[in-house]
Amino acid sequence: MFKNIVLALAAFASFVSTAPLELEQRGLADVYHKYTGDGSAAAGWPVTEDWGEFEGLWSRNLPLIKQSCGWNNWGADNSDDEIRNLKSAITQVASETGVKARFILLIMMQESKGCVRVPTTANGVRNPGLMQSHNGSGSCAGVNPCPKSQIVQMIRDGTAGTASGDGLKQLLAKTVAHYGSRQPRAYYAAARLYNSGSVDYAHLENGFGSVACYASDIANRATGWTLAASSC
Ligand SMILES: *[C@@H]1O[C@H](CO)[C@@H](O)[C@H](O)[C@H]1NC(C)=O
Repeated sequence: MFKNIVLALAAFASFVSTAPLELEQRGLADVYHKYTGDGSAAAGWPVTEDWGEFEGLWSRNLPLIKQSCGWNNWGADNSDDEIRNLKSAITQVASETGVKARFILLIMMQESKGCVRVPTTANGVRNPGLMQSHNGSGSCAGVNPCPKSQIVQMIRDGTAGTASGDGLKQLLAKTVAHYGSRQPRAYYAAARLYNSGSVDYAHLENGFGSVACYASDIANRATGWTLAASSC
């Protein structure tokens, strides 16, 4: 958080949701739409039904997770064991915190592209690990293999928060309280807070000096964006 990293991939897949008397096909697509404004459906932002489920989003991001360390010169690519532990860490911390697994995944991809050996960055605050947490203790920078305990810690630092700062759980609590419900823009606004520490609810593209496209990127990741060129 409080810094940038970009990313992206391509895939295919679509997911089908069926409901009584209704068969609806919703496709995840590797395309980028630039979203601005207040995060609402009226402003064009994706609604809950547009979001992929955790498994579908995981599958789309897996090809990146397998190669992101090498692509970024962050050390050896994630091993099969590390990738297995990463997936289970996300679902474990999701159940510990009540934060949706898919949201954790999207923020992790935004922050580190899922490379367990991502370096620690520091722009005022120390941001280590998979979720570039607020001065958390989890990190495998320069460490191979990365132990499962560290992978869980990195996901926990970013999601449950640390002694030094908020994680997704606290930020979502703030944005859900602001809107009065867990609507999609509560997630977009929480993403804004995770990146910049402040949110302008009418203009989620206001990065307060951090990554202007952060909330838009998360909305695109939620609908399947991985490697397509960003128009933001
Ligand atoms: C970061 O964490 C360390 C260890 O927990 C602590 O000593 C330090 O004060 C923290 N720094 C900030 C800026 O919160």
